[in-house]
Amino acid sequence: MQNTTTEQWNNHTAITEFILLGFGETDKLQILLFLVFAVIYILTMTGNILIVILVVSDQHLQTPMYYFLGNLSFLEVCYSSTILPKMLARFLTGDKTISVSGCFTQFFCFGCFISLECYLLSLMSFDRYVAICKPLHYAIIMNGRIILHLLVGSWLCAASISVLTISMVSQLSFCGPNEIDHFFCDLSPLLQLSCSDVSRVKLLAFIFGPIDILPPFILTITSYVCIITAILRISSATGRQKAFATCSSHLIVVSIFYVTLMIVYILPNINSLRDLKKVFSVPYTVLTPMVNPLIYSLRNKEVKESFKKVLDRFICFREIKRVFLK
Ligand SMILES: *[C@@H]1O[C@H](CO)[C@@H](O)[C@H](O)[C@H]1NC(C)=O
Repeated sequence: MQNTTTEQWNNHTAITEFILLGFGETDKLQILLFLVFAVIYILTMTGNILIVILVVSDQHLQTPMYYFLGNLSFLEVCYSSTILPKMLARFLTGDKTISVSGCFTQFFCFGCFISLECYLLSLMSFDRYVAICKPLHYAIIMNGRIILHLLVGSWLCAASISVLTISMVSQLSFCGPNEIDHFFCDLSPLLQLSCSDVSRVKLLAFIFGPIDILPPFILTITSYVCIITAILRISSATGRQKAFATCSSHLIVVSIFYVTLMIVYILPNINSLRDLKKVFSVPYTVLTPMVNPLIYSLRNKEVKESFKKVLDRFICFREIKRVFLK
């Protein structure tokens, strides 16, 4: 069956668009999925844009921890915008096509942003580790220049891996079928459709997947284990409870992110795992960007205070306008 379709397609010119099959949803389900993902996208954008505004505008949030948080939130805005708007449009219109160049662009941005997300999450946990476990060295280790280097280094590393991958993927030919069994253009569903020899790209993904994911994962887990050990030594019970609650919520979200990533990108690509991998792609593409601003700022006094100040100023402006413009 597969072979005849391929042969039929081979007689045609190269394909110009792909079809994203998504979750294989029916018409009724589409509306429900649209509503769910629209709410997720709105929450993600609002939360993260708010954090970026607070970090950039508030003097009190000009510390390394908040630089990382601001950069992470900025990244989440870009990251979820590479996948969700296209997905929402698909649910709404039922049009499942995506142009080949659009698909490559989505894959490139996604690859770059997801690597960066791994690096930033691990840098943030390392930052907390130094602040809690090595407080005397904090100012030396986390100074502005080092942070800038770490951030620029992360961007460069993520971008170069993505450039390398996309330059190889864009040389592949696709002669059909053109149905991508996924909800966005990811590497392995794309490779399944290619009629060129994909062994080199597969080898590259086999090497870079773990390089991208495992070191940040190990750094993150080690940092949190050290932090939690330090917290358990705090003598006051309430202090211990509060710190523990904050840290464990970070650890849970970060673990879900990395574990689902590893299931999708490190486990072998066998057929029985394909649907499972699609489902496990949801947490790290859609949920982490939404939850991160909440867990990193809801329990955080400084962010809350900064938010209140902005709100006050806003309300104050409104009052002034009302009084003077009447
Ligand atoms: C990202 O980090 C740099 C510090 O290296 C900081 O100057 C900048 O404001 C941060 N960006 C955001 C959006 O917080």
